[in-house]
Amino acid sequence: MTMPAHSTDGACAKETVLARAFAPGKAILLGEHAVVYGRPALAGALGDGVTVEVVAGRGALRVPAWNVVAPLDENDDDDRSDLVTACAAVRDVLTRRLPDVGMALRRLDAAARFGVPTGAGLGSSAALAVALARALARAVDARLGDEVLDEAALAAETVFHGRASGIDHAVAARGGFGLYTRATGLRPLPTKDGAARVTEGVRLVVGHTGRQRDTRGRVARVAELRAAHPEKIERSFDSIAALVERGAAAITTGDLAALGAAMEENQRQLEALEVSCAEIERMCGLAHEAGALGAKLTGGGGGGCVLALAPGREEAVRVAWGTAGFTSFVTLVGAAMDEAAA
Ligand code: PMV
Repeated sequence: MTMPAHSTDGACAKETVLARAFAPGKAILLGEHAVVYGRPALAGALGDGVTVEVVAGRGALRVPAWNVVAPLDENDDDDRSDLVTACAAVRDVLTRRLPDVGMALRRLDAAARFGVPTGAGLGSSAALAVALARALARAVDARLGDEVLDEAALAAETVFHGRASGIDHAVAARGGFGLYTRATGLRPLPTKDGAARVTEGVRLVVGHTGRQRDTRGRVARVAELRAAHPEKIERSFDSIAALVERGAAAITTGDLAALGAAMEENQRQLEALEVSCAEIERMCGLAHEAGALGAKLTGGGGGGCVLALAPGREEAVRVAWGTAGFTSFVTLVGAAMDEAAA
C-alpha cells in the first residue's frame, strides 16, 4: 500500500484535528520473556512515544513512517500485514464495546507519528494501539474505560507478539515505572517501608543494533525451549524473577551498581534463552569497556535495542557505540506520565 500525499511527519497539518492522543514507548529494564510466563518484569515509560491525530476522512490509519495506510472501517483481504491485522483488532474491540466509535469510523482518518524508533523493542506498536484507541474515542466523545483500552491494546499486541504478556500496553496506557506481572498489572515500586511511590526514573543510554527486533520469533523460540526442557527453562525464569526483585530493590535504595549487576546477569540468562544476537553482545561488550555498570537487550531481542546503565559515562558509551556504527540516545526511563498530554 502506498501513502497518499500527506505531511511528512504524520501530523495532520492542514485538516482540522478532531482529537489527539499520545502514548509513551517503554523500556524493559529486567524480566522480558519470563514475564510471558507469569514472572515479574521491571519496566518504565520513555519520555517519547506515539501521537495519533484524528481528522475528518474516509476510514484510514496513515503511518507515514512506515509508508502505509491501513483501513480502519473494513477488512483488507489483500493485505494481512501485522499493522492491518492489528488495526482490525483494535477496530473490532472498539466497535463491539463502543458502538459510537464503530459508527463514526468510516468518516474519520487517523495519522500516527512516532517519536521512538519502531521495531526496536521500545513498545511502539503498543503505544500506537493505545494512542489510536484513545484518539478515536476522544473524536466521538465516547468514554474509553481502562478495561476497553486494555482489551483493544492486548488484541493488537497479540497480533504483533503471538503470545503477549501485556507489559507493553500496560506501560503505554499508564506511564510511570514499576513491576509488572500478568496477574497484577503494573504496580509502582514499593519504598523501603512498604508504601507505594513512583520513582523519578532511571537514566539510560538506549542504542540500536540496526537490526529489527524479532519478538514473535524469539517468543516462539523460548516456547520451543520450554517445551523441550521444561524444568531447566522454568528454573531460568525463576532466576530472572529473582534478578527482577533484586533490581527493583536496588532502585528503591538507589544502588545503581546492584541494578547494573542484575542487568548483566539478566543478559546472560537471555543469551542462554537464545534471544540475543551478535550485535547485542557486541554492544554490551562496548558499553562495558566504556564504563557501563550494566547492559542488556530490551524487549523481544534478536535485534532491536540495548540498554546501558552508565551514570556519568553516558557520552563515553554513546561514542563507543557510534564509532562502531550504532545509533543511540540518552533517556530517563519511568518518568511519571503527564495525564493531560495523554
Ligand atoms: O519487543 P517488545 O518491545 O514488543 O517487547 C516484548 C517483551 C516480551 O516479554 C518478549 C514479550 C511480552 O509480550 O512480554
